[in-house]
Amino acid sequence: MTKLWLNNQLLDQQQATISIEDRGFQFGDGIYEVIKVYEGVLFTAKEHIDRFYRCADDLRIVIPYTKDVMHKMLYELVEENLIDTGHIYMQITRGVAPRTHFFPNEGTEATFVAYTQTAGRPLVNLQEGVKTIFREDIRWLRCDIKSLNLLGAVLAKQDAHELGCYEAILHRGETITEGASSNVFGIKDGVLYTHPVNNLILNGITRIVLMACCEEMGIPVVEVPMTKEQALAMDELFLTSTTSEVTPIIQVDEQLIAEGTPGAWTRKLQQAFEQKIT
Ligand code: PDD
Repeated sequence: MTKLWLNNQLLDQQQATISIEDRGFQFGDGIYEVIKVYEGVLFTAKEHIDRFYRCADDLRIVIPYTKDVMHKMLYELVEENLIDTGHIYMQITRGVAPRTHFFPNEGTEATFVAYTQTAGRPLVNLQEGVKTIFREDIRWLRCDIKSLNLLGAVLAKQDAHELGCYEAILHRGETITEGASSNVFGIKDGVLYTHPVNNLILNGITRIVLMACCEEMGIPVVEVPMTKEQALAMDELFLTSTTSEVTPIIQVDEQLIAEGTPGAWTRKLQQAFEQKIT
């Protein structure tokens, strides 16, 4: 039987139920994380857990466990479910209370859920690259919080999906922010360009690992917003996320990038990233 955490109980997945008055269900009032598991080991667990607590703090949601306890709970789940390669999805909401927009009474406990999924690495996308589209970034102004409110991303991603594309590259006016569920990078003349960390993007853990790779490899990194036009003029484009790793972008709308094949810099960065996970 596959297990999950519902608050501090390790339950069979079928046994778990959530109230219709859970604020995650009614308001999207909560946050989430996705952590990759490679050969039974949680990749960058500390960074994900730190971000989970930072986001909860920003929303004044109290997580009723220490970070150490959380870390142990996640490992227990991975071991219990015999996960080799896959990921953990976890979320916490402001809990169950009669529906009012303002916060419920003090003492209302948060609802924590964590479950696992077996999922291999996205080898075909890594090898061949993916097609993308541009979409206006209609999300809110706290994209640095990994909130459960994902409608802006869901709508953009659905457009991409209907057009046979993997990702939507979001832009506010002419300026690219990030992917609907990833960070976006360009390479021009051996220099890496990406949006700076602020309220308009999620500071991806994979982004942080990738930038450490750049530093080790002596690749200069410039954190400035790219316009759509500048992005299309890059030698190479790629995206990063926990589940996508370092995925080459070979097309945006109708335009091919790097003649429609993954570029040499992207390949080097993929190799560097691969060394971190194995
Ligand atoms: N998405 N930006 C956004 C908007 C994201 O949703 C994600 C991750 C990232 C990359 O973050 P990280 O490298 O920490 O995974 C950037 C997750 C994987 C998801 O929603 O499934």
